[in-house]
Amino acid sequence: MTSYMFLILTFLTFFLPNSNFAVAQEGEALFKSKGCAGCHSKGFDTFAPSLKTISKSYRNKRINLINYLRGKTPGIIHRESKTMKSIINNVTKHLSDKELEALINYLLSH
Ligand code: HEC
Repeated sequence: MTSYMFLILTFLTFFLPNSNFAVAQEGEALFKSKGCAGCHSKGFDTFAPSLKTISKSYRNKRINLINYLRGKTPGIIHRESKTMKSIINNVTKHLSDKELEALINYLLSH
């Protein structure tokens, strides 16, 4: 019994924080490697909304962001996606569930 407790505590103390960190890191890496950073700045809205605006608009609406990046529903900020249409079709639609989750965690962390 005590050894089970020890294992569980070890898991919670070491493994979980590291894996969350890894997921956040992976999201940022994807944001850069998939070219999103070329148009989306962290804090300034340009022709593309900033991460701050995206984060504010999609807070508590995670499912909407998943559906948007999977090409199932229009955006909340701009209902018509002109630029994003091809990015969704060529890039975000093809991410694995895990990659999309990491990317969304990163987007919503601003
Ligand atoms: C070529 C420039 C460009 C790139 C690259 C780009 N975006 Fe965008 N993004 C835009 C523009 C412009 C908009 C505003 C909607 C539109 O016109 O498509 C937008 C809108 C968005 C929105 C808000 C949708 C809404 O209106 O509610 C999200 C989320 C988003 N982009 C995520 C991403 C992600 C994730 C990537 C990387 C895979 C990415 N974008 C790459 C230009 C870009």
